Amino acid sequence: MTAKDSLDPRRIPRHIAIIMDGNGRWARQRGLKRHMGHRKGVDAVRRAVEACAEIGVEYLTVFAFSTENWQRPASEVNALMDLMVRTLNSEMDSLQRNGVRLSAFGDLDSLPSRTRTRLFQAIEDTRHNTRITLSLALSYSARWEILQAVQKLAADVEGGRLHPKDITHTVFRQYLATYPLPDPELLIRTSGEQRISNFLLWQIAYTELYFTPVLWPDFTKEHLFEAVAEFQRRQRRFGLTDEQLRQGVSPAITVDTAIKSP
Ligand code: FPP
Repeated sequence: MTAKDSLDPRRIPRHIAIIMDGNGRWARQRGLKRHMGHRKGVDAVRRAVEACAEIGVEYLTVFAFSTENWQRPASEVNALMDLMVRTLNSEMDSLQRNGVRLSAFGDLDSLPSRTRTRLFQAIEDTRHNTRITLSLALSYSARWEILQAVQKLAADVEGGRLHPKDITHTVFRQYLATYPLPDPELLIRTSGEQRISNFLLWQIAYTELYFTPVLWPDFTKEHLFEAVAEFQRRQRRFGLTDEQLRQGVSPAITVDTAIKSP
């Protein structure tokens, strides 16, 4: 029986986030340049989107470029920015055919204009698709996100539009770059590294973490199904006891639920 066959269709995560790591090592192991690893990584993104769509995941978010990645050699940064443009061109038919709505969050103003223009066009062209939302975290880091949220929030307080005592969890999340995405239930990181690397720090408060040694370009649909199968074997307690959960006690923590569109 494959991992996919073992899945309980009633407990599929609505939102999966992925830290796609290991492209450089995949290339080095083959004596190739790093950008070849990123190119192969695009095939793995396609497989992950297809796998998620097949089992009914509604949101897939991938960490495509971090704030810290700007410090990489200019040749690699340029290759990645060009790869985004080429990928958005070559995958557009497939996104449309498969009902994929594209979205992006991060410091998008810092992207080169060729990448930003193509990205915004792709977001516009796919905005009516409803099967799955693929979000690209681009020029993103969670600390950047939290700081920009606090700056906007402070400006609203200063401008008299918001009172400090009204800053609830529900209000705060509206200032985050990911709004209105729901929190991910499952976060996958490939390549054996076991850290969060400044990704979605606020949103993963109660997310299940799954680490796999597989390098991102080698990540298959079956690997994704295995991660979901492991997710389904875990008991999510949100700070409650096993017994309380059986009695139907609701957790106090606010886990953001999905909102279909802004
Ligand atoms: C991490 O591997 C990967 C990245 C920094 C880039 C990932 C981007 C893509 C796969 C392109 C996606 C594009 C679209 C449009 C979806 P690494 O370079 O850190 O690998 P290493 O740790 O082995 O060096």
